[in-house]
Amino acid sequence: MNIQIVKDQAAGGRAGFQIFQQALQQGAKVLGLATGSTPVTIYDELVASDLDFSHLTSVNLDEYVGLGADHPESYHYFMQQHLFSHKPFAQSFVPDGMNADAAAETKRYDDVIAQHPVDLQLLGLGQNGHIGFNEPGTDPASTTHKVALTASTIEANARFFDNANDVPRYAYSMGIGSILQAKEILIVAYGAAKADAVAAMIQGPVTPEVPASYLQTHQNVQVILDEAAASQL
Ligand code: GLP
Repeated sequence: MNIQIVKDQAAGGRAGFQIFQQALQQGAKVLGLATGSTPVTIYDELVASDLDFSHLTSVNLDEYVGLGADHPESYHYFMQQHLFSHKPFAQSFVPDGMNADAAAETKRYDDVIAQHPVDLQLLGLGQNGHIGFNEPGTDPASTTHKVALTASTIEANARFFDNANDVPRYAYSMGIGSILQAKEILIVAYGAAKADAVAAMIQGPVTPEVPASYLQTHQNVQVILDEAAASQL
């Protein structure tokens, strides 16, 4: 893992932007994208840049089950607000949270990933070590699946909703196995609340208890941390 420690989230946005720019210079055609507060400054840099995505494909990691693209807390909506409305891609894929048929939706999304192998996958990190919505205990070989969110993830994400009862209980997420197929992975974490998960991801054993620890098995991982997130290393 190649680790960069930056001053703050603004500097992380600039460092992340450079990794995107490099990947595009090297011919990346499919970008794997993530939601949450962490990637926002990278998206801000991408939006402010003269990079053109109109010939590229994006594939997002996950979506809440039961939230449609017009719900302000859906990941579709997030991507539209932060990136796609400013920098349209030729095609953008996000799991369809309104498809109640989990078997059909996860199969559809696996087919999307197979047809559009990801060149650079951006990831945030959950406080419990999750990536995408792959919670502790997820099979490292997993492909796209329906996930029951843990109490800790529901609580961590409640800040975006009026109250914790409004947080969806399920999500569709690319699996750990799907994520590890990306040619290059960029994982970003900020703040002291992520410090334990960061240490477990980088220095701990590779274990299903810490989904992000499987990144140790990938050959091309870039890590961007602020000092607080790096404080337990
Ligand atoms: C959610 C998302 C993850 C994200 C995590 C951390 O659970 N599914 O993809 O990495 O939250 O979010 P934040 O970046 O807001 O800390």
